Amino acid sequence: MQIKSFQDENLKNKIVLLRTDYNVPTNDKVVVDTTRIDESIPTINALLKMGAKIIIITHRGRPKGQIDISLSMEPIARELEKKINRNVKFINRLDEDITRHEEEIFLFENIRFFPQEELNDNRFAEELSKMGQVYVNDAFAASHRKHASLSGLPKFLPSFFGLCMEKEILALDDVFSHPTNPVVAIIGGSKVSTKIQLLESLIRNVDKIIIGGAMANTFLRATSNNIGSSLYEASCIDIANDIINSAKKENVKLVLPIDAKVSKKLGDYPSAKNKILDEIEIDDMILDLGIESSRIIMDEISDANTVIWNGPLGAIEYKPFDQSTVAVAKELALRCKDKNSKVVVGGGDTIYGINIAGTYEDYTHVSTGGGAFLQWLEGKDLPAVEAILNKH
Ligand code: 3PG
Repeated sequence: MQIKSFQDENLKNKIVLLRTDYNVPTNDKVVVDTTRIDESIPTINALLKMGAKIIIITHRGRPKGQIDISLSMEPIARELEKKINRNVKFINRLDEDITRHEEEIFLFENIRFFPQEELNDNRFAEELSKMGQVYVNDAFAASHRKHASLSGLPKFLPSFFGLCMEKEILALDDVFSHPTNPVVAIIGGSKVSTKIQLLESLIRNVDKIIIGGAMANTFLRATSNNIGSSLYEASCIDIANDIINSAKKENVKLVLPIDAKVSKKLGDYPSAKNKILDEIEIDDMILDLGIESSRIIMDEISDANTVIWNGPLGAIEYKPFDQSTVAVAKELALRCKDKNSKVVVGGGDTIYGINIAGTYEDYTHVSTGGGAFLQWLEGKDLPAVEAILNKH
């Protein structure tokens, strides 16, 4: 895939509107994972080096077109300042004249405070475009959204991908256009309902699917297994059975857990027990894969040349229920290093998992996208990517 780069343009003294995805997880106003901010820094540095002034447009949360001060970008401006070691001026007016400020980086207030953003309002996109002269989109994680600052802005300005976006598109295209078989998908997380289309698409494209996380409980329930009082989606039992049947029909091996780490309560270090499914008691909650299920996964990935991983395999926010996720993260990192397998990891919670394992740097590609990554895996176009590709 050929991508026209902003680095081939003359951006000296130009005002660049840079769309990033700073929808970062926070706990009590503290940013707990800065991956998306970190990944935008190479583009910011490259633009500054080229002599551009930058207005960053971004979003946080889902304020639904209303001002919600708890979702303001102001604390993120301070976080970015620390990372980049330069002043970042926070602005919240569309008609702000940035030429009268000495700063080179400006961070605009949460663009989702404007109702026109999510409506993909053309006039709003045009109004935004007047703030700058060039548009660079580095927000891969939001590229599945057809919003004014994502798919609308390219209609009004010369438009390019940022370096993070470019890296994501090239890496995903490289791995998925011509994957080397066997291809194994590891899908975890809590809900089958958010991954139905993904699973249907994977069945057409991979050799094996390994299911973990709370979504495995729905599959176990669908196959009349005992899951005690574990979380599952009653409304997805039929869908889980359909997925099991389509996998059989397409000759795709679907791997489900055969044992689990269970506890009577959720929290750090409760008395966790490893049980085979038949031993699970009515008040037991499945919170991670069991020892034997983890061993089976290691076995199933041992011949994989391409691995796609989305979703943690247990309740990783509580110890020791991060064990199977960490073990798989480490094994996949080794496969990348020693066997040259291609491993692509994506999704916010999965990134949290590989960060616990300390293996973030060790894969072929780690996608910053959650929904965008899933949409790519489903084989669907990403509107914000298309908006720029269509211009070139
Ligand atoms: C994400 O975190 O996946 C992106 O920022 C998109 O957020 P959204 O699902 O609220 O549109």
